[in-house]
Amino acid sequence: MKNPFSYSEFVTGEAFCNRKQEKEDLIYFAQNSQNVLLYSHRRMGKTSLVHEVIKQLKKLKPKVNAVYIDLYGTLDENDFIDAVLTGIMQIESKLEGILKRVAGLKVTGSFDPVTGLPTLSASIKPREKPQYLEKALQVLASYSEKQKLLVVFDEFQEIANYSEKGFEKRLRKVIQGHRNISYIFSGSQKHILIQMFDSVKYAFYKMARSYPLQKIETHHYIDWSTKLFKKKNVTLDEEIVVNIVERCDYQPMYIQQFLFDLWRSDIIDSAIIEDIEKSIVSSQKNQFIVLWNLLTQNQKKALRLVAETGGKGIYTAEMLQRAGFNSGSVLQRALSSLMEKEILYKDVTYQFQDTMLKKWIQRLS
Ligand SMILES: Nc1ncnc2c1ncn2[C@@H]1O[C@H](COP(=O)(O)OP(=O)(O)OP(=O)(O)O)[C@@H](O)[C@H]1O
Ligand SMILES: [Mg+2]
Repeated sequence: MKNPFSYSEFVTGEAFCNRKQEKEDLIYFAQNSQNVLLYSHRRMGKTSLVHEVIKQLKKLKPKVNAVYIDLYGTLDENDFIDAVLTGIMQIESKLEGILKRVAGLKVTGSFDPVTGLPTLSASIKPREKPQYLEKALQVLASYSEKQKLLVVFDEFQEIANYSEKGFEKRLRKVIQGHRNISYIFSGSQKHILIQMFDSVKYAFYKMARSYPLQKIETHHYIDWSTKLFKKKNVTLDEEIVVNIVERCDYQPMYIQQFLFDLWRSDIIDSAIIEDIEKSIVSSQKNQFIVLWNLLTQNQKKALRLVAETGGKGIYTAEMLQRAGFNSGSVLQRALSSLMEKEILYKDVTYQFQDTMLKKWIQRLS
């Protein structure tokens, strides 16, 4: 029987656990043309959720069309425009159809060498950029004239690094005029995104409603995973699921990976869970070593301190001394840069974005 769990890409269908309320909310916002800023730290399930929402929107009557645009790796405005044009192919399969609407745009079609999927690319001279951005976005808008449209910009924080002056302002100006489109701006670098949308100085101020993606509760994981295990006539004990969820600090990717490995095992007990954890940590070892070697001494000390204490009481004189910090401000600086690097995040206390990295560091000392 095919393993129903999956952890290497976004998940939908039976591999997707719960998030009923989130789906309902996002569908409602899309139907009512409300823009949303969807954010969380890494690997919490944003991309999976938006794909689930897109799937359901297509089934509605009247149907809401959707375009998913992945901005990961885009470096400038040209890349952004190409990503938008390529995204349009999700709702218009015929190249001629798009070309007709992009009158005045020099667009060429090709295939992505990695994914093999069709891509569109515009040849743009620097002078032409403002018009091109507007035209590409107007193509999107033209598809929303008869039917509501959802446009998802995933990894939206990437645009903060584009060098073109005034890009955000121009983008905002065009988007604001799109009455029949709802936008989901999704991403993970909370500090960048919050600043973009919540600071009066920035172009996207109050452009979208904030929607932080929370963890999935344990009872949802229990319902979902026990049901899937039933398919092969295996009763999965609740305690086993609780054990996995807690070990993984509620990180869905690792929970999937544990369940994927558990599905293959003939015996299900806590010793097996322990073995799976060891194998997951060791399979990531090389990546962790590369990351560790890029850190300064103070950052390493700070990470070890957070790993050992769970981030609690780290500023006491005794802790600082034990961890080898001369002052709280040195620790504070190290923690800030670890947050910027998306290694830690703060939620009352400091936490690891990657719980297996925490376990690896705990094993180091
Ligand atoms: N609702 C869910 N049910 C079960 N597993 C999930 C769910 N959402 C996410 N996952 C697991 O977490 C992994 C990461 O999910 P996804 O790529 O959607 O997260 P993300 O927040 O978009 O990550 P990133 O910040 O890296 O873009 C998936 O591969 C899957 O294993
Ligand atoms: Mg994602």
